[in-house]
Amino acid sequence: MSPRPETHREPLANLGGAILPLAEVRISALDRGFLFGDGVYEVLRVYQPRPWLEEEHFARLANSLRAVRIDGVDLMCLRRRMHDTTKAGPFLDATAYIQITRGSGLRTHFFPEPATPLEFLFVQDFADPYQEVREVGAGVITHPDLRWQRCDIKSINLLANVLAAEAAKEAGCKEALLYRPDGSLTEGTHSSLFGVFSDMLVAPPNGPAILPGLTRELIVRLATKEGIRFREQTMNRQELDRVSELFLTGTTSEVLPVVRVDGRPIGDGRPGPITRKLQRAYAQAVATFVGA
Ligand code: PDD
Repeated sequence: MSPRPETHREPLANLGGAILPLAEVRISALDRGFLFGDGVYEVLRVYQPRPWLEEEHFARLANSLRAVRIDGVDLMCLRRRMHDTTKAGPFLDATAYIQITRGSGLRTHFFPEPATPLEFLFVQDFADPYQEVREVGAGVITHPDLRWQRCDIKSINLLANVLAAEAAKEAGCKEALLYRPDGSLTEGTHSSLFGVFSDMLVAPPNGPAILPGLTRELIVRLATKEGIRFREQTMNRQELDRVSELFLTGTTSEVLPVVRVDGRPIGDGRPGPITRKLQRAYAQAVATFVGA
């Protein structure tokens, strides 16, 4: 067998401080993450070789932990472990996945006592699946939002997201835009949603119905710098006929133009000028970060 190219290193994990190949990680079948989905997570992008929006990801992780009452996690220590694991690769263009669960204990719905959280992360090379579609734009479907009422918590309970994402894939699409019973669009299964109405950039309001996306937050800042008007506003499924541009944002998708929804074109069916401008601004922000 020929040696594996440098860009395909084995993913490396860190379990409670010990670095080991991801494939060798063993976690108890009584772990609450496995039995109950009782845990929270973050996904960070590593750009050559620095974790992007690190402060923000760890602040959001702290919020998620607080919201689900998982205590006793030293986030500074966790950050160090993420850095150590990235260096050990070494990984340049990568993602870091961090998952904290409530730990393990005999199966009961009540919190186990004592509960020692499981602190798990892994870093892996990022083979960008969006490279081409970022240029030409993506098709998406709309799908009922079947999630719970605290989507602002980055919980590992992702069944509704998984089912909607699979429905999108089976329809030959990249994402599913989730909508509530009143027709309001919330976000994608793993991305935040933006639209453009008459040169006004619009995104569904932050709150319990969506994850406060960190790429979303950055894009709002970049839009302001670029002189693009922005407001948080509920977007309805029916309004998609009037939207001139649509795009998704996320840690791995970055800024992803949407050019078709349920088979119908958005605008002229190509990525629009505001989307392009924000893609360039995002790329510039990353280039500055990498060069810093
Ligand atoms: N998902 N909305 C949802 C439901 C998400 O799961 C994500 C991220 C986002 C975008 O957030 P951010 O810009 O902070 O990545 C919005 C990650 C990448 C995932 O689950 O893989």
